[in-house]
Amino acid sequence: MALRNVLLEGDGTLRKKSREVTHFDQRTRELIDDMFETMREEDGLGLAAPQVGVLKRIFVMEGVEDNEPTAFINPVLIDEKGEQTGAEGCLSLPGLFGIVTRPEEIRVRAQDISGEEFERTYTGLEARCVCHEIDHLYGVLYRDKAEGGLHKLEPEEEQDETETASEEIISAKVADSDA
Ligand code: NI
Repeated sequence: MALRNVLLEGDGTLRKKSREVTHFDQRTRELIDDMFETMREEDGLGLAAPQVGVLKRIFVMEGVEDNEPTAFINPVLIDEKGEQTGAEGCLSLPGLFGIVTRPEEIRVRAQDISGEEFERTYTGLEARCVCHEIDHLYGVLYRDKAEGGLHKLEPEEEQDETETASEEIISAKVADSDA
């Protein structure tokens, strides 16, 4: 496993559309392992392949509520219900957050590392995370959807690691504040 470099906003790769994965091979497995390692190193809750410069339809998610580490290959939203409005961040836009409205509940269909298809339903923060990561696969950043633009995280929030799950997705603290 190896850490990969996370691309920052401004890099054109983040604005490109990712391609369908057709080979469920060792290379795909290594990419996913590296994505998990990179996401953990950066304290993210999710990470999409284009963020590490690979234009493939893959994202990983972990650490939202009781979620187990999961890799989603060729993910598609097949249902969504309701609405939630809250704070979001992204490892590709460090130190920032914005208020984004997402579905409250989603159902996602994807393939696992063996190519097996699975479906899961998520609510709340996990639903928000899945929507955010799938957007990355279409070259969409949460800045495009943030109401009232992006804001800087307060310095004390940036310093306190336990409070800044704000990178790649959301800080519960920010979400609970009146920011
Ligand atoms: Ni992101």
